[in-house]
Amino acid sequence: MADALEEGEALLEILHDDEVFERELEEIFAKSWVYIGHESEIPEEGDYRQRSIGKDPFIFVRDENGEVQVLWDSCRHRGTKLCRAEKGNTTHFRCPYHGWTYRNTGELVGVPQKGNGFPDLDMEEKGLHGAPNVESYNGLVFASLDPDAPDLETYLGPSAWYLDLYFKLADMEVIGDPHRWEIDTDWKTPSENFYGDNYHVPMGHKSAIDVGIGSATAKGEKESELYAISDVGGHAFSIYQIPGEDFFWGHPPEVTETFHPERLTDEQYQIARQSGVSLGTIFPNLSFIYLGGSDDPEKDTVGTFCLRQWQPIEPGKMEAWNWIMAPKDAPQEYKDRVYEVGVGTFSLSGNFEVDDIGIWDGIPEAADSVFAEQVNATTVFSMGRGEDTLAEVDDSWPGPGTVYREGGMTDENQLEFYRKWHQTISEAH
Ligand code: FES
Ligand SMILES: [Fe+2]
Repeated sequence: MADALEEGEALLEILHDDEVFERELEEIFAKSWVYIGHESEIPEEGDYRQRSIGKDPFIFVRDENGEVQVLWDSCRHRGTKLCRAEKGNTTHFRCPYHGWTYRNTGELVGVPQKGNGFPDLDMEEKGLHGAPNVESYNGLVFASLDPDAPDLETYLGPSAWYLDLYFKLADMEVIGDPHRWEIDTDWKTPSENFYGDNYHVPMGHKSAIDVGIGSATAKGEKESELYAISDVGGHAFSIYQIPGEDFFWGHPPEVTETFHPERLTDEQYQIARQSGVSLGTIFPNLSFIYLGGSDDPEKDTVGTFCLRQWQPIEPGKMEAWNWIMAPKDAPQEYKDRVYEVGVGTFSLSGNFEVDDIGIWDGIPEAADSVFAEQVNATTVFSMGRGEDTLAEVDDSWPGPGTVYREGGMTDENQLEFYRKWHQTISEAH
């Protein structure tokens, strides 16, 4: 695979392979920093949400001391899951099997018939297991199951410089519950797509763009330049810039005046100011798209932020999670409109979403073919290589990373995904 990547290719079979899938769960999901949820989803003590790391079930909960916990959802008695609701508020989790009861800190506090049946049970030792590492970055909570993981800041590396544009300039909050839907495709396909597959937009999303739905930049209403940013810790971003404009992803002045420019450097602020559609992925499976656009050609552009997680289910099958987000201090009716645009564009019923789903589900079927092995089928990521291609490195870009102008004409971002994937899966320790 390393050789193929050098040549700008990857193997098709990894998009539907039992052995690869198992190794991904063990070497990637159980070792990386994986997104759990946003702090605004559990604002009150006792608020909880069901979450997962790879396929492992966890409870994302704000405990009675106000601390965020990520607890493995498995009773210490016979192992069943304690949490049977997607979300709620509770001081305790009581196991439905024999009634062992845990505080929302994870501490075991109740064992029916303890005196008669388990006089020697060490309650302190039988609390719920928590993820070994839990950290928050501007409200985004991540966990790593690897006790030897580097800290989150190190893991994010220079990507944090870009995440600041989206999560530090404004305090963001989740609107409503996440939307979830299954897709018959491998989790890597959308993850890699959100590394910056801008090449598919004119073809895959032609019908939506033709009727005037989507971003002001993609529709060509605004003169813009697309930058593809890689080499930022194994993650990647694609950012449209509209020279000289205060566009801020389509947010109107009544929203941008609630921003906190003092939290950013001048260079960061300059990029935020000129930003149209922006998207990216934090390895392995957290993506986002900031759409400066609308779900209706007759209506104003709004800054709709969709945060995505691509959850592995089995080889060739995954579940998408989609959280629509808006600046916390924006007017309520604006947030309602953001939600509407999110639902109408990048959600299960959204115009752009159905385009992608209907294409991605064709990949695993081919990847699982006997013939794929016979012809040693590969996927091609060599766009932008060779003489006279359009994409070129822009040394004047003020942020970190390797940055290409004409970012829609290079596969460097997507190659970054597969390099990181290959490095992580090969690095068993
Ligand atoms: S399995 Fe939980 S109390 Fe028995
Ligand atoms: Fe797409």
